[in-house]
Amino acid sequence: MAARLTVNGEARELDLADNALLLDVLRDELGLIGAKRSCDVQVCGTCTVLVDGTPVSSCCFLAHDAAGREVQTVEGFALEPLWEELAAAFSRHNAFQCGFCAPGFVMTLKPLLAERRLRSRADVVAELSGNLCRCTGYRAIVDAVCEVAGVDPS
Ligand code: FES
Ligand code: FES
Repeated sequence: MAARLTVNGEARELDLADNALLLDVLRDELGLIGAKRSCDVQVCGTCTVLVDGTPVSSCCFLAHDAAGREVQTVEGFALEPLWEELAAAFSRHNAFQCGFCAPGFVMTLKPLLAERRLRSRADVVAELSGNLCRCTGYRAIVDAVCEVAGVDPS
């Protein structure tokens, strides 16, 4: 069945199976491999993308439900100034090791930072609780986000 969606600002018309998952369409049809598959059951956050500005787990999101809507992946976010700021802070804090989880973290963070919804370290920890990282222990990630959000890191 045909579906029209906008991905990273570009209108796309795709012929999709009824049960096609957004993650598979992004990675396999459109070559946008920033979003990753890990748990496949909406637990780890590595597949997070934005649909109409809201983070969703693309591993469990039907591609047809994105029809007529605006999808943004990490590849699209990487063209924006907030990305530069976030990436620089992550780098200063050595926040990631393998980086597999990073695209999911940044897509969860984009609306939180853009809308200034992070007011404390506790907010940062709570809002990132759906993004899992197997390498870092989280402290450096949270430190970097606190810096960008302008909140007390202690
Ligand atoms: S792969 Fe989608 S939440 Fe884990
Ligand atoms: S840096 Fe390796 S999983 Fe997060």
